[in-house]
Amino acid sequence: MESVKDLLRLGARVDPVIEEYLLRDADPEFHEAILYPIRTGGKRLRPALTLASALAVGGRVEDALPAAAAVELAHNYSLIFDDIIDHSELRRGKPTLWKKYGISTAILVAVHYRESIAQALGDTRDPRTFSSIMARTLKLLVEGERLDVLFEQSGRGDEPYVVERRRSVVTLDDYLDMVYKKTGALIETACVFGALSGDGGAREVEALRRYGANLGIAFQVGDDIIDIFGREEVTGKKVGKDIEEHKLGNVVVILALEELSQSEGEELRSILRAERVGREELERAIDIISKTRARSRAEELRRRYVQEALQALSVLPSSEGREMLRALAEFVASREY
Ligand code: IPE
Ligand code: IPE
Ligand code: MG
Ligand code: MG
Ligand code: MG
Repeated sequence: MESVKDLLRLGARVDPVIEEYLLRDADPEFHEAILYPIRTGGKRLRPALTLASALAVGGRVEDALPAAAAVELAHNYSLIFDDIIDHSELRRGKPTLWKKYGISTAILVAVHYRESIAQALGDTRDPRTFSSIMARTLKLLVEGERLDVLFEQSGRGDEPYVVERRRSVVTLDDYLDMVYKKTGALIETACVFGALSGDGGAREVEALRRYGANLGIAFQVGDDIIDIFGREEVTGKKVGKDIEEHKLGNVVVILALEELSQSEGEELRSILRAERVGREELERAIDIISKTRARSRAEELRRRYVQEALQALSVLPSSEGREMLRALAEFVASREY
């Protein structure tokens, strides 16, 4: 059986396809900036899910390549604007696109990505269906990002729209709704696209939809754990950036607040509310969080969603594709990057 590395390498089969769509209708002078997000790395989990889903319904990898390319393009498109919104300067161990080329160029590259997605979807087996699913998915992702911003406890003083609508209370249910939208929906669509590309039946499409939606939520729970407890050399992202960005929409913070005493809970909230979260405040916040069971409870929550995803696979016949999906779910359950 293949290792997760092999499975992610399967996802990387979309790279030449992605580059072809990205370079189509692009001025040669623009090529470098356009290719930068793709060439700096990334795990290629989403296209691996699309291709494995196609195999799991008896389809062929080749037939799912345009859909898999569209999904990975959509992911990178979302990262370009997410890094602008989150003021993130590091991704995949390298400067983010806006940091390297400036905001104006990053916005133009993002629009170029959106149109490359549309061109890739034109080559799927049912362009109208695939395009309408993608449009809905990206609108959900935008809504998830909007909520994530509204869950921040400070910052954006020059954005009255945000400041006036900010949420000071965020429940676990609010969180799960937000992360299904910002992360779960695209991973769900990655799996549905694979099932449709492989000409799966309605029951198979529904099973893979359920697998993807649950795995997507688990994936974001893992991302939140890594944000606070990960290592920059491994994740390629700055540790603690969610706290620096005043985010209450990180599950570890939400679970810690459930357990903390009145005074330590108030201290953590006041760090999130501070105008600037410096090194010392960040260390203090992580210290307070580490005294609680938030980390292990977040890991339990992630495991629960992975279990739900695995459960959904049981209606599919045993196959190499289904085994790949099982292994990818195990990766999501314990990943450190
Ligand atoms: C990061 O996604 C953004 C989230 C949805 C949490 P990945 O961790 O899949 O990013 P890359 O593509 O591997 O860099
Ligand atoms: C990412 O959420 C979700 C997207 C839709 C891009 P994060 O903001 O937590 O992702 P990272 O940590 O920057 O990769
Ligand atoms: Mg971010
Ligand atoms: Mg974000
Ligand atoms: Mg994150």
